[in-house]
Parts: sequence; C-alpha cells; structure tokens
Amino acid sequence: MSVTSPANPSASSLLSFDKSAETIRTNSQWIAGGVNSNFRLNIAPTPLVFERGEGPYLFDVDGNKLIDYYLGMGPMILGHKPKALVDAVKSQIDSGILFAGQTAIEAEAARLVCQMVPSAERMRFGSSGSEVDQAALRLARAATGRTKVIKFEGHYHGWFDNVLWSTAPSVDAAGPADAPVPVIGSKGQLPSTADDLVVLPWNDLAILEARLSQGDIAAVIMEAAMCNQGSIHPAAGYLEGVREACTKTGTILIFDEVITGFRLAAGGAQEKFGVTPDLSTFGKAIANGFPVAAIAGRADLMDMFVSGGVVHGGTYNAQPIAMAATVATLKSLTPDLYERVGKSGTQLMEGFKAVFARHDVKASVAGFGQVFHVALGLEQPARNYRDLARMNRPAYVALTTALMHRGVRALERGAWFVSSEHSSDVIEATIDAMDGAVRELKTKGTL
Ligand SMILES: Cc1ncc(COP(=O)(O)O)c(C=O)c1O
Repeated sequence: MSVTSPANPSASSLLSFDKSAETIRTNSQWIAGGVNSNFRLNIAPTPLVFERGEGPYLFDVDGNKLIDYYLGMGPMILGHKPKALVDAVKSQIDSGILFAGQTAIEAEAARLVCQMVPSAERMRFGSSGSEVDQAALRLARAATGRTKVIKFEGHYHGWFDNVLWSTAPSVDAAGPADAPVPVIGSKGQLPSTADDLVVLPWNDLAILEARLSQGDIAAVIMEAAMCNQGSIHPAAGYLEGVREACTKTGTILIFDEVITGFRLAAGGAQEKFGVTPDLSTFGKAIANGFPVAAIAGRADLMDMFVSGGVVHGGTYNAQPIAMAATVATLKSLTPDLYERVGKSGTQLMEGFKAVFARHDVKASVAGFGQVFHVALGLEQPARNYRDLARMNRPAYVALTTALMHRGVRALERGAWFVSSEHSSDVIEATIDAMDGAVRELKTKGTL
C-alpha cells in the first residue's frame, strides 16, 4: 500500500486551507457566519470555499484537490458534474425557466418515481426534504383526524419547529433511554410543538406498540434505516412489526427516505427491506444535487391534496430545469450502478476496518456500501441513538481534520457517502489517507 499517494502526503506537504478561512472571514460581512446553513458552520479546520467539482473530487480556493465523501450531504450519487445530467440541464434551460404551470418533463420525472418506488401510487414534487416532511405530516393529520406524531430519537426530519426535537440531544438532557424526553433543537423554536410530539427510542418494537395502542397517534415518521446520525440497520422484524402496528391502530406510517431514497436502492429502503409505508418522502439523491424533493404514497392519501382540503404549495415545485436533472438522474440509477457503488463502499469499509485493527483503534464501521458510518470508541455497531452517543466525537473530529489535511473530505458526524465515481484507485487512496491520519493521531495520543 503506497503511503506517498496524493491523498497521503508526507507531513511536510499536508494540505492547508488558509485561503478558505480568510474567504469565510471576509464573506461573514454579508453572509451570517460566511455560510448558508448552520450545518456548514464550525467545521474543522475551517468551512471550505470551493471553485468546482468533478467526479469524486472537489477543488477549493487554496488549490487543493479533495476526495469528497460529503457528496453535498448525500445527494451526489453520480458524483460531481455527471455528463448526462449536465447535458440534460443545458438543453432544458433553452426552453425557459419557470412557468407556474405543467410540463412534459415533470410528468416524466413523476412517472419514473412511481415506477421505481414500491409505495408510490401517486406523488408530488417539492424543493427540500424539510418541506415534504411537513406535507406528509399534514396529510397524516388530515387523514386520521388526530394530531400527535411519533418520531424517534436521533432521527432528523428537517429544521422546522414541529420536528427539530431530539435530533442529536445530549444524553444528560434526554431522560431515560426507554422513555426519552423531547429535547428542543433551536432557540426560537415554539416549545408548544412538543405537545403533539412523542419521542421514542428507535428499533424497539414493544415500546412503539405500547404507545400506538392508545389509539391517538396520527403518524409514525422514521428513517427506515437511521442514516442522518449513524447508518443503522433496522433490527430483524422491526419494520414489519411497525407496519403491522400502524395498520392495526389506523396510524399513517411515513418513511423519511430523504437520505435512503434512490441511494440504498432504486426503490429506497422500502425496496431494500420489503416494507411498504403509507407515505414516503424523498430528496437528495433524487436529482443528484438539484433542489428537488418529493412526497409519494397511497393514492387515497395523496388525493387529499385534490379533494380532501389539504393544502400543498411551493413556487419552485417541479421547476423544469430541476425536473430535467431529476429525469437524467433517475435514468442513470441502474442495477449495475448500485452494484458498483455498493462494491466501492464495501471496499472502503473493509479497508477502514483493517486500518483500525492494524493500529489497535476501537471503532465501529457499519451501514451500507452506499452510505456508512464510522464511530470511534464503539465495539459493536450502534442499534439506536443512545448507542451512537457513546462514540468519541472529539477524537472523530480530529480524525476528519487529519483526513482533510491529507486530501479527503469526510463529514464530522461520521457519515460516509459514496458515489459511482469513487473508483477502486480513489478508494485505495482514501484508505491510505486514513492510515496516515490514524498514525498521526496515535502518535499525538488523541487515539
Ligand atoms: C432524513 C432526512 N430528512 C429530511 C431532511 C431535510 O432535508 P432538506 O435539508 O433538503 O430540507 C434531511 C436532511 O439532511 C434528512 O437527512
């Protein structure tokens, strides 16, 4: 294994990010914090400023070429700048920009979603995962006449008031593991939104069944594989049990597939695990980086937008250029592509496991080839948020920082997204970089 690859330079040639840091400082005059999302703040050594992306790489203002595993926080399953998508978008833009009316390209995109997603009898497009999750909750409340919703600790369903609860709570504030208390996510958030929210531990069927049996829950919303935090498989039989309990109690089951959709499989987690929700939501990989989201599901529920008095809007819904990107993306998502991405991701996971074993570092590397998670300090893959909360976060941030200096950009929360452009060579270079980063942190006593 080479230790002099571009991703694993000698200590004297570690990458620096001074120009990014300086640009962020300058831009903070106009942009709050120099970034346009709180989730891009406080990145070590600095939030980065990019000039372009190509395949598995990003190129920043310091002249660095980075192997990218953020992949836009998940969307870029085809990598940066895939030719078919770029060509489709260029060609669509010649027809105009926004019509506040219907187009053939949006119908084609919708038909593809309905063909690919098992539960999608009908669908609607939106612009972000946060807003389609709201649409799903509204539909569920209208359909059941109930107000309360169950969400799970550690699951993320967007940044709006009624769901930004217990997404990454401090365990000290979160109450007992089997009866968590809702922990608010932001100052300024309406505390009363917790009145209609029940937060439960995920992957525990008995606790969910007991709460559902009270018969007052409109919807259960979950990431069917918990991928925003961790990359956690549902326990054997869990999703099937949840499906049955929801059906028995007249509760709408919503799978938030904003990460898993079009990433774990063409039909998302529901295809992979063979469990069909009533409604599901999509975003991210549906359009490989264009601002597209979708809600899909049972026709009787979706038709409540038409004749059931339920409102859903959005100026940019089904924006034609974004729809061209959607069609181009969905047509690229072949079985061969999933096999390739899965294989690359598995190669990377196995490579990391070997590095950690070689350096005697306790770590869990778990999940799927297409998206997995590295948790330092865990012996076993996590089963839920409380397990995950035991990971050594400061050491992991030190690890991602050491990786950045070796030309690998990975999320500080532990997630690794893989694209069809991450070839075997790129994966090997990443494993080399991990070896170098672990070696450095071992020497410093951080690991
Ligand atoms: C599972 C899940 N649901 C919803 C969202 C919100 O999507 P968006 O950021 O597009 O609003 C995210 C974003 O990361 C997510 O991971």
